[in-house]
Amino acid sequence: MITSIRGGNLLSLNNVSKEAILEVLDTAESFVEVNKRTIKKVPALKGRVVASLFFEESTRTRLSFETAAKRLSADVLSLAVASSSVKKGESLRDTISTIDALGIDAVVMRHQSSGAALQVSRYVPHVHVLNAGDGQHQHPTQGLLDTFTVRQVLAEQRGTTGLESGAELFQGLRVLIVGDIRHSRVARSDIAAYAALGAEVRIAGPGTLLPSSLEGWPVTVVDDFDEALAWADVVGLLRLQKERGTGSFVPGLGEFTQSFGLTLERQKLLKPSALIMHPGPMNRGVEIDSRVADSSQAIIERQVTNGVPVRMAALYLTIAGTSEGSDND
Ligand code: CP
Repeated sequence: MITSIRGGNLLSLNNVSKEAILEVLDTAESFVEVNKRTIKKVPALKGRVVASLFFEESTRTRLSFETAAKRLSADVLSLAVASSSVKKGESLRDTISTIDALGIDAVVMRHQSSGAALQVSRYVPHVHVLNAGDGQHQHPTQGLLDTFTVRQVLAEQRGTTGLESGAELFQGLRVLIVGDIRHSRVARSDIAAYAALGAEVRIAGPGTLLPSSLEGWPVTVVDDFDEALAWADVVGLLRLQKERGTGSFVPGLGEFTQSFGLTLERQKLLKPSALIMHPGPMNRGVEIDSRVADSSQAIIERQVTNGVPVRMAALYLTIAGTSEGSDND
């Protein structure tokens, strides 16, 4: 069990303790204030070098990681994979060794293969590796920013702060995650984070889009989606991932929307206090109706905003922290 990411890597939220997650969330609270300043910069990682390697497309994760590194005063090496020697067939190992030879402290990496971040951490064990999404495996900073956002919103509603609340607001919190669980690294990281913090997690989706085995998953599968919507305090929707072949797992997008889309009609089943979340990018009109996504119950933009302080915390703790309690996975 990893009890702190200080001085280590951030590869997965599986096997990460409540204390380690809270350490990131609490550290991120202090960076929220930095992001509200006119000059949004602190010298915490001055002189450190962060390489940003995105072998797969990204808008939010890449921009917020790079923004986070810059706001901590780190230098950022951003590899444009499409115009790099990767396109000439250079291997992942040679690519990472080449970048390491330039002198780096950390790598933020997204890759289409599950386990790629772990592999890189073995190639360059002296470099801190932060997984920005690996195949269907994990997207740890998404799990952290989602739980951070829920805590922040619930704390505000109760007139307190996330920092003061600790993990208390998660005790018995009812979280429903909906859609393409099978292919979703976001679902895996969200489930790990919510469960570690004490929430009850249920999942809903077509049988073909649920994992073939749920052994070891701290979740239950809902029988009745509409009933589950009325039960939930938080509804986390997932993108239908056409690039991972999701289209062949459902008869059609219309049918998916009819059965599991958060339509305007279904939004009426939710408690007025329920929070609607989506990691983005959204397929508007498929997993979520556009009007639902833009409604006051949706905290999707807040998720994006919080990506910066949460990734600042992840970079700061791994790069500047000491190695006590940390591990490589
Ligand atoms: N949520 C998320 O990972 O979005 P991007 O693919 O735009 O980074």
